[in-house]
Amino acid sequence: MNKQLTSFRSKKGNDVVFRYPQKTDFADMYSFACDIGSEDTFVALDAPPTESEERDFFGRMMQDVEQKESVYIMAYVGGTFAGNGRVNRGKGRHRHMGSMGISLRVAFRNEGIGTELMKSLIDEAKALGLRLLTLSCFENNVPALRVYEKLGFQKAGTIPGAIAYKGSYINEVHLFLPLVTE
Ligand SMILES: CC(C)(COP(=O)(O)OP(=O)(O)OC[C@H]1O[C@@H](n2cnc3c(N)ncnc32)[C@H](O)[C@@H]1OP(=O)(O)O)[C@@H](O)C(=O)NCCC(=O)NCCS
Repeated sequence: MNKQLTSFRSKKGNDVVFRYPQKTDFADMYSFACDIGSEDTFVALDAPPTESEERDFFGRMMQDVEQKESVYIMAYVGGTFAGNGRVNRGKGRHRHMGSMGISLRVAFRNEGIGTELMKSLIDEAKALGLRLLTLSCFENNVPALRVYEKLGFQKAGTIPGAIAYKGSYINEVHLFLPLVTE
């Protein structure tokens, strides 16, 4: 599963590589989770995880990937781990659906990588036979909403005050993308 998926040049001229995760990626993932957790940005993680929490997460992630319950795509810019995205297949009556998430290190945002990552994840979701994708987003996360709506995601609705963030309660937007027309 270490095949390179794609490579391209970003809007800022950086060489970007997407590939599937490998068992040796733990250190990259942990350092990334610590950076995102410390940044306190628009993601569920509100603090750096402990190494043991991240090991549990990484173990489950690799198991889900092996069992084709999830797809993760790792983005590298000039050899530096820039971030990743995922699709997690639903369970039971939701097995035809996938939930998604993406995040990038602050240094690699706003150069088109998030949009490309989402496109690759949508292709992966189709290859898994999924019929519908869902995701949720802070209502004030303008760049993320721009990416999702540009790729055809529609707003299903908003849950008022669902997210506790920096001392306030922020609305959470739920979005969906049908992958089949019938
Ligand atoms: C969300 C995220 C993955 C997007 O990735 P990215 O590589 O920065 O996104 P892109 O560069 O492909 O696209 C960003 C779009 O938002 C637009 N944008 C960025 N800041 C904006 C602003 N303040 N106002 C309006 N539009 C803005 C950009 O112009 C671009 O749109 P365009 O392609 O039409 O020009 C990235 O910002 C990130 O990791 N954020 C922190 C974690 C996060 O929020 N994850 C998502 C949780 S739902």
